[in-house]
Amino acid sequence: MTKISPSILSCDFANLKDDIDTVIADIDYIHIDVMDGLFVNNISFGIPVIKSIRPHFTKLFDTHLMIVNPERYIDAFSNAGADLITFHIEATEDSNKVINMIHEKGLKAGISLRPKTKVEELIPYLDKVELVLVMSVEPGFGGQEFDPSAIEKIKWLKEYKMTHNLNYEIEVDGGINDITGKLCKDAGADVLVSGSYIFKAVNRKEKIELLK
Ligand code: DX5
Ligand code: ZN
Repeated sequence: MTKISPSILSCDFANLKDDIDTVIADIDYIHIDVMDGLFVNNISFGIPVIKSIRPHFTKLFDTHLMIVNPERYIDAFSNAGADLITFHIEATEDSNKVINMIHEKGLKAGISLRPKTKVEELIPYLDKVELVLVMSVEPGFGGQEFDPSAIEKIKWLKEYKMTHNLNYEIEVDGGINDITGKLCKDAGADVLVSGSYIFKAVNRKEKIELLK
């Protein structure tokens, strides 16, 4: 069964808790997009917001850091309530250090890559992480069109995982709807992130069912 991780970037932030409540029963993870205005050309929200919503939900906080030098903030995101912290390979000079810091906090570590980054660059880290996040849009904004280059990456990651007997989950993020989600699932994705497709819908439950 494919897991669903709705991106709260597409929520109404004036009603964030209520918006998450509308989907919580049907989802697996809560995808939390943190942007610093440097790694990406957008600023979203950060530590205090995660801290505020944490007491209201028990589902896994799937925290996607789009920030430079994420090693500066692993403690803070851990203390705020992140369960899984995904960082970008392009955002740090020492991915091993970031993975170790996340693990030392007792959290799951995820690694992500921009659409233009070659999937082979992840090889040194694939036996160390619990999740790989394939970006199917240029990170920074919700509501963009799916980049099909993600499909080959998902297939490659699935193949690599099988041949090397590894356990990471493969997650895909950006432009996911019922059609692109199916392509990703067939390619080997375990977790679908979806923002606008779910939160812009009147019947969100129906959209989540379609994704599953
Ligand atoms: C983009 C974010 C995504 C985004 C997905 O940088 O990482 O999680 O919110 O939004 P949709 O599903 O609308 O493409
Ligand atoms: Zn994301």
